[in-house]
Amino acid sequence: MLSKIHCYGLKGIEGFAVEVEVDISRGLPHFDVVGLADTAVKEAKERVHSAIKNSGYNYPLKRITVNLAPADVKKEGPLYDLAIAIGIMAADKDNDVPDFTSGKATPFVILGELSLNGEVKPVKGLLPILISARSAGFKRFIIPSANALEASYIQGLEIFAVSSLSEAVEFIAGHLQIQPLKALQFVPGQAQEQGAMDFKFVKGQARAKRALEIAAAGGHNVLMIGPPGSGKSMLAKCFPSILPDMTFEEALEVTKIHSVAGELDFKKGIVSSRPFRTPHHSASAVSLTGGGTHSRPGEISLAHNGVLYLDELPEYPRQCLEMLRQPLEDGTITVARSALTVTYPANFTLIASMNPCPCGNYGSKHKECKCSPSQIHKYLSKISGPILDRIDLHVEVDDVEFDDLRAEREEENSQSIKQRVDKARKIQLERFRGMKNFSNAKMSVPATKRFCKLSQESEQLLRTAFENLKLSARAHDRILKVARTIADLEGEEEILPEHIAEAIAYRSLDRKYL
Ligand SMILES: Nc1ncnc2c1ncn2[C@@H]1O[C@H](COP(=O)(O)OP(=O)(O)O)[C@@H](O)[C@H]1O
Ligand SMILES: [Mg+2]
Ligand SMILES: [Zn+2]
Repeated sequence: MLSKIHCYGLKGIEGFAVEVEVDISRGLPHFDVVGLADTAVKEAKERVHSAIKNSGYNYPLKRITVNLAPADVKKEGPLYDLAIAIGIMAADKDNDVPDFTSGKATPFVILGELSLNGEVKPVKGLLPILISARSAGFKRFIIPSANALEASYIQGLEIFAVSSLSEAVEFIAGHLQIQPLKALQFVPGQAQEQGAMDFKFVKGQARAKRALEIAAAGGHNVLMIGPPGSGKSMLAKCFPSILPDMTFEEALEVTKIHSVAGELDFKKGIVSSRPFRTPHHSASAVSLTGGGTHSRPGEISLAHNGVLYLDELPEYPRQCLEMLRQPLEDGTITVARSALTVTYPANFTLIASMNPCPCGNYGSKHKECKCSPSQIHKYLSKISGPILDRIDLHVEVDDVEFDDLRAEREEENSQSIKQRVDKARKIQLERFRGMKNFSNAKMSVPATKRFCKLSQESEQLLRTAFENLKLSARAHDRILKVARTIADLEGEEEILPEHIAEAIAYRSLDRKYL
């Protein structure tokens, strides 16, 4: 007997349809999986066998062949277990599973991993699978109950959640009623809820706060330079609290990636707040970019639509910094493995921090720097080229002053800064309506020309700065974009000289050290 079950596989963060065909024929007991299956899929054999027996059903002691079609696409992971088990039971005429016995395909897409006792365990990447399957026209799904919350955010599907093989079998056989999942409405998460820090706790540091506000408003990357203990990490942690709320589409993109990486919190179901990722400088290149033997998204993709915070930037191996080029330019990362090339989204705001020199005290008012000029130069040159060129705002963070630290005055809270950020973002949404880009930071060259027209006075100021500070062409573009954001924060249509002047002040590394 032959049965066919609809299932789905994952490639990158997209799902692809897989048909699980099970053939049972007379012969010595034997189980074979064909169709480019990896070890985890091949091991389905043991799990499926035990799960069927331990659920009290008959396991056919015959020749079982499972084919995963299309045969030329690699299948990974245990997510085919449930479909294979149901397929076997459907193909075995001794089991009471109607509908399949005629050999026609089931009306459900069946997804789930099995444990030996017949429990259905959650699978990675369910959300992207449902989204892909919905566009392919599939309507009805049987999924693991642990994935239910995640699935509830996808509208327009009939989804049945099961926690065991027997529940799935009895439901398909019509002996058990299961209510389809109720679709949930998305509510953007408050950064506060996530325990994000609030700027009201950061005393003083007006300049750094201002730079971070501009960064949030225009989607710009920031580098903070300052001695240890000056509050750089604290400032970075506060940054997500002033970013605009995620839209549902953004949240789905983020959730897809986290789901595929197996980092989704099943109790939340959807990632509703912007991610904040802080990979350590000792992290491997693969963990940053993704890929590896079991291709999975890396830190920079997990930071998609959120923040990637690189603390102690010069400590990261040059090779890692080089790899950030592509994502910083076009918001994606392509990772290649032996036979497979996958592209993951990686559109994040980069917040980086570093000491001004190896000892950390260069430029300090209170402490003495012990480094030689060549040591400082060597330290800074590690981040020159690849990264520095792609950072719009350089900001120096000094040690917090005692008076600031002890001041009674209330610091502005994140909510109030966020309101200004939201306003500036609204202006950009209008400006870039119908275009691919949504932020000033990502303006193309023609867009920069069009939206960053300068008055004669502003033009003159920029020229003077450009010539005196020997700025690069790239720095020139960065200044225009940042000035555009500063003008947006002020609600000004025109970029004024003061906006240009402030933007130039954020290019300190271009002129100071290198
Ligand atoms: N401006 C500030 N206001 C309040 N506390 C601060 C400030 N700057 C630093 N601190 C305190 O000092 C600690 C160390 O700061 P941190 O952010 O780790 O510095 P850095 O990353 O620059 O080395 C913080 O956790 C915080 O308690
Ligand atoms: Mg720090
Ligand atoms: Zn030093």
